[in-house]
Amino acid sequence: ALHASFASKAQKESQNFNYRFQPQASYKVAVLGAAGGIGQPLALLIKMSPLVSDLHLYDIANVKGVAADLSHCNTPSQVRDFTGASELGNCLKGVDVVPAGVPRKPGMTRDDLFNINAGIVRDLVSAVADNCPGAFIQIISNPVNSTVPIAAEVLKQKGVYDPKKLFGVTTLDVVRANTFVAQRKNLKLIDVDVPVVGGHAGITILPLLSKTRPSASFTDEEIEELTVRIQNAGTEVVEAKAGAGSATLSMAYAAARFVESSLRALDGDGDVYECAYVQSDLTDLPYFASRVKLGRKGVEALIPSDLQGLTDYEQKALEALKPELKASIEKGVAFAQKQA
Ligand code: NAI
Repeated sequence: ALHASFASKAQKESQNFNYRFQPQASYKVAVLGAAGGIGQPLALLIKMSPLVSDLHLYDIANVKGVAADLSHCNTPSQVRDFTGASELGNCLKGVDVVPAGVPRKPGMTRDDLFNINAGIVRDLVSAVADNCPGAFIQIISNPVNSTVPIAAEVLKQKGVYDPKKLFGVTTLDVVRANTFVAQRKNLKLIDVDVPVVGGHAGITILPLLSKTRPSASFTDEEIEELTVRIQNAGTEVVEAKAGAGSATLSMAYAAARFVESSLRALDGDGDVYECAYVQSDLTDLPYFASRVKLGRKGVEALIPSDLQGLTDYEQKALEALKPELKASIEKGVAFAQKQA
């Protein structure tokens, strides 16, 4: 009797657990670079989403084991693995696509990273264009400031570019800004929201601390300290890992949040806002990260209000980041056009 009641209790808990994961909708998500440092935890977090029915994992190696492992989690989505270029087309039936590349190692310059990742992003996005041109494409591979323009050019060359569905994932900058501001100002983490605009490297990352919600006041020293820490937070992790890679767990968390927001928007939730690096007319630059409203068709609106009424510090930082961001965009466009 004891055994029976224990069994039924366990069964009930299992049912409760599963109940939380009943699929509310059925979207397909493809993670590209799924065996990597970001790809694995990202795949796990997506496997926990009640909005996902199919999770496709692609990598050039080592993805079979990751998929077998994840497939034992009793959450609704079906996991399938795809290895190598010959299986990429079959993988890409997805709504959300997350390409990845190689990590930033200490001593590696941004140019080294560009040379490797530019070609990978070009090839992956080209396959996306051929197989699932209507998907939301979410670029994580650095340098995001250049890889997004590369992706856009490839999609244009294929005649399927929809600027509303191409995103550079900058969510990690927002996640970091929220965490650091909450810590510094002793605020409840869950409430804090700091918009981060510009791009996704060094000084192009511009946290708009004056727009923090709930409103908070900062001394000049705090603004300088927090801004620089948010801009260099990636380096903090690279140095702490000392050769073992860059931010992977916090990045996976951030990317999973962006995927989940996208799925909620696809599912008809009319109240989804995220920061992302997208084609934009908010400044004189063709691509710019800002808050955007997400809807069923991707970017429903850019939110210009964050850029109004900036402090002197923010206005100067905005002007200072523009030449670097412009150069990164032009470098990406030139790479893609040279290859065409
Ligand atoms: P990783 O090296 O651990 O994983 C990369 C994965 O990509 C590996 O499994 C590798 O086999 C796979 N891969 C290599 N060539 C491929 C190809 N042609 N097609 C598909 N997969 C391929 O790297 P990690 O740490 O996961 O980082 C991935 C990327 O994310 C890097 O470019 C990194 O700079 C970027 N990143 C972006 C952040 C952001 O905030 N947007 C933050 C942190 C990293």
